Amino acid sequence: MRVGVFDSGLGGLTVLNRALDILPEENFLYYADVDHVPYGEKTREQIVDYVDSAVGYMVDEGCKAIVIACNTATSAGVDFLRKKYDFLPIIGIEPAVKPAVLHFSKGKRVLVIATPITVQGEKLKKLIETYDKDNIVDKAALSELVNFAEKGIFDTDIIVPYLHDALKDYNPEDYGVLVLGCTHFNFFKDSFRIVMPDTEIIDGSTGSAAYLKTRMEEEGLLATKADSSPHEEKVIYVESGRVVTDKKELEKIDKLCKRWRELN
Ligand code: DGL
Repeated sequence: MRVGVFDSGLGGLTVLNRALDILPEENFLYYADVDHVPYGEKTREQIVDYVDSAVGYMVDEGCKAIVIACNTATSAGVDFLRKKYDFLPIIGIEPAVKPAVLHFSKGKRVLVIATPITVQGEKLKKLIETYDKDNIVDKAALSELVNFAEKGIFDTDIIVPYLHDALKDYNPEDYGVLVLGCTHFNFFKDSFRIVMPDTEIIDGSTGSAAYLKTRMEEEGLLATKADSSPHEEKVIYVESGRVVTDKKELEKIDKLCKRWRELN
């Protein structure tokens, strides 16, 4: 049985790669909802519908646990999903506000960036209320980075000017830590390092993968060496319900995974 990892598009590959590192015996199914990306500009109702059908697909394929590797889908739909699919662990991802405030702010402010849906959502509001006792957290919605990532545009000559403009209201020197609250943003760490050179940059992929492992241990779901067969694909990629077999598309995914490894 596989572990399902879901994202609206390619951003969740960053969580998948962390999970591959810490759960080497597991096989995965990665589901990208390419027909509907970007989620950040859809309504909450639409997102719940899309993610419900993706999780339904993964359940039908026999996935034993599911990671919603998308902050936006977690914000809009994880409560609904946990009620509907209460027979298997569903792990969500939320901006890493807690470690940012408690460990990384270095006496300065914290900037959380995410999609508009995540930034406006109740979940992020509650998370900030819980940990931001000194009012040091600011949040900003960046809507274009998801589109850049899906189009394969990572060139710092294009991304850095975009970030300078999108973040012009935030003085980099005021911020001890930048929280990447969208899994697609993880692919732009090189540009963020140019725009905010003295700011720590953190994302939630390690935390989510670690939590997946903990939940699988608790539920007795971990695969052993004996379960794995050399004939099985380590990862099956699915795009909006269609298994990816096209060599070019698989190469694109592979290239992106390599890019992310180089950035981390
Ligand atoms: N990777 C998704 C996230 O973490 C991107 C959402 C989108 O499709 O806009 O929020």
